[in-house]
Amino acid sequence: LREVPLVVLGFGNVGQALARLLEERDRFENPEVRLVLVAVIDRGGAVAGKDIPLSEILSIKKEKGTVAEHPRFGQCGVSASQVLDQFPDSVFVDVSPTNAETGAPGLSYLRRAIERGHSVVLASKGPLVADFKGLMELAREAGSRIGYSAAVGTPLPSLETVLLGTHGTRLSGFHGLFNETSNRILREMESGVSYDDAFENARQAGVLEADPRLDIEGWDTAYKVLILARSFWSPEIELDGRRILGISAVAATAVTEAGTRGNKIRLLGSAERNESGVVDIRVEPVQLGPDDPLHALGPGEKGAVFDTDLMGRLVIRSGKAGPHATAAAVVKDVLNIAAHPSVIAI
Ligand SMILES: NC(=O)c1ccc[n+]([C@@H]2O[C@H](COP(=O)([O-])OP(=O)(O)OC[C@H]3O[C@@H](n4cnc5c(N)ncnc54)[C@H](OP(=O)(O)O)[C@@H]3O)[C@@H](O)[C@H]2O)c1
Repeated sequence: LREVPLVVLGFGNVGQALARLLEERDRFENPEVRLVLVAVIDRGGAVAGKDIPLSEILSIKKEKGTVAEHPRFGQCGVSASQVLDQFPDSVFVDVSPTNAETGAPGLSYLRRAIERGHSVVLASKGPLVADFKGLMELAREAGSRIGYSAAVGTPLPSLETVLLGTHGTRLSGFHGLFNETSNRILREMESGVSYDDAFENARQAGVLEADPRLDIEGWDTAYKVLILARSFWSPEIELDGRRILGISAVAATAVTEAGTRGNKIRLLGSAERNESGVVDIRVEPVQLGPDDPLHALGPGEKGAVFDTDLMGRLVIRSGKAGPHATAAAVVKDVLNIAAHPSVIAI
């Protein structure tokens, strides 16, 4: 049995959901591996040690605001790099906030972790928007692996579908509903709720990003599509801000009119690659007719459609979103990184 130590940057919604999941599922132990949380870092410092009691650090976080206050394992003011150095065989998990311009706070720690041979798993999109190419090159040189399913519209298996499921075919484009918060607001508007009230409901339900413009102005969707496009076609692809539109300008009358024709307005992210290899990424509210495979998606669901030459059109649809499902995607990436080559070719 091999233990896989995890060092986790960030202990908010996703970090705490990950700790709960590890406890609920007995550290995902199977005859080959067991996942062991050896350190958690928040803005106050860290807890680190081989036997961190997960339920205690969840309580300490709630009571004191930082895990660093744990009486036995807490380390106030310590940096993520110092913590990583204590666990040279660990997988580094970045579940800190998304800053797409600088990639901070995760990017510098990720670079350092990869250079030192750690594999890394991210739920944050920022580092992959700010420096996708650099991170991939570093990982190739260091022989490290990078998992980022949780950053591209969890729990849709978009990366697996294309990178494993369509290997050898040509992908000409893909589109999907990747931001549940925008589509939740549009769904509420369909039942007569005003945009402002639907936005407020989303805020109260705690589903908005820390910076809500990421959701409603289309940037969260744009970043997910960008990271997927870079993964499928080229790390050099960039966004053109003029093609990113969110839902804030969608009029209630437009939502009602679409409904009378049996259509739904949804925030769609798309990427098309032309014959010369140029990729056009767009995010915009569009009308989906009843025949569209994404029309049927309900609350909490995401979906994506991939157009290939040899396999035709592939459609994927997922249920549960939110921190728990995001933590599950992090676990899945860690287990895939840790797994011995399987008998089944995936
Ligand atoms: N929530 C979801 O369902 C979901 C789904 C997919 C992807 N994501 C992505 O996952 C990431 C985490 O999301 P979340 O909802 O868990 O965010 P969150 O609740 O805001 O938690 C962020 C955590 O990062 C910590 N942090 C911030 N700056 C730091 C720094 N400089 N050094 C150390 N720790 C720092 C915060 O510390 P304090 O606790 O001390 O403030 C907090 O614990 C985000 O990038 C988000 O876009 C989230």
